[in-house]
Amino acid sequence: MKANPDSVEIAKKNAALVAVKHVKDGNIVGLGSGTTIAYAIEALGERVKKENLKVLGVPSSYQAFALAVQNKIPVTTLEEHPVIDVNIDGADQIDPKLNLIKGMGAALTREKIVAAASKLNIIIADEKKRVKILGENNHPVPIEVLTFAIAPVTLAIGKLGGKATLRETKGKLGPVISDNGNPIMDVTFGAITDAAKLNQQLKMIPGVIETGLFVNLADMAYLGTTTGTEKLQTARKQTF
Ligand code: 5RP
Repeated sequence: MKANPDSVEIAKKNAALVAVKHVKDGNIVGLGSGTTIAYAIEALGERVKKENLKVLGVPSSYQAFALAVQNKIPVTTLEEHPVIDVNIDGADQIDPKLNLIKGMGAALTREKIVAAASKLNIIIADEKKRVKILGENNHPVPIEVLTFAIAPVTLAIGKLGGKATLRETKGKLGPVISDNGNPIMDVTFGAITDAAKLNQQLKMIPGVIETGLFVNLADMAYLGTTTGTEKLQTARKQTF
C-alpha cells in the first residue's frame, strides 16, 4: 500500500494542479525542473491524454525531458520554438516581488533561458518557499561556473561579500556537474538587499555562466498548502 504523501508533497501538488490549468490548446510550454514541477508535468500529461490537448514542451533539463517522455508530452526545442507561451517552474525562495532564488536542482542556466523566452512565467512551490528577503536563513545562491575559473570566481565572490562552495555530489565523489557540463557553486551572502544589482555583479565575473537569482522574470506564483493555493501576481513588464 502507498504511504500517504506528507503535507509538503500535497502542497506542491496543489500548486502544480492549478498552474497547469493556464495551459491552452496549441501552447508551447516551458517545463521547469525539480520535484514540484514533476507534479505539473504529470498533470499536463493527464490533460494531453484526456482532453487531446495539443501542446509541445520545452524541457529545461534532462529530468524534465525524461518526465515529459514518461508522461507522453511531445517535446520541442528553442531552435524550433524560440518563443514559449507559458512556462511553469519551481523555486527555492520567493520574495514579495516574485524575485527568486533557483538552482538547487542545478538546472538554473537552462531554466533562466526558458523563463526569459516565455510570455507567461508561473512559479509553483509549497508555501514554505516564501521569504521576506532573498538569502534569508543564509540560503545560498547557486551559480554555474566554468571549471577553469573556479578559483578566481571564488576570490571575486569573496570581494562581493559572498562565500562560495563547490557543490559536491551525493552517491559519487566530486562536484555536481550540470546538464551543460559545468560545476555548480553555492554562494552565501546572507540577506540580499538588491538582488538585481547582485545578479549583475555576479554576471560580470569572468567564468560565471549564470546565477540562480531570477529577477523580474515571474508573472505569478501559486503557493500550495495542504488545503489549496494562494496566488501571488506581479505587474512584470513583458518583453514580448
Ligand atoms: C532546479 C530548480 C528547482 O525548480 C528548485 O530547486 C525547486 O525544486 P523543488 O520543486 O524540488 O523544491 O531551480 O534547478
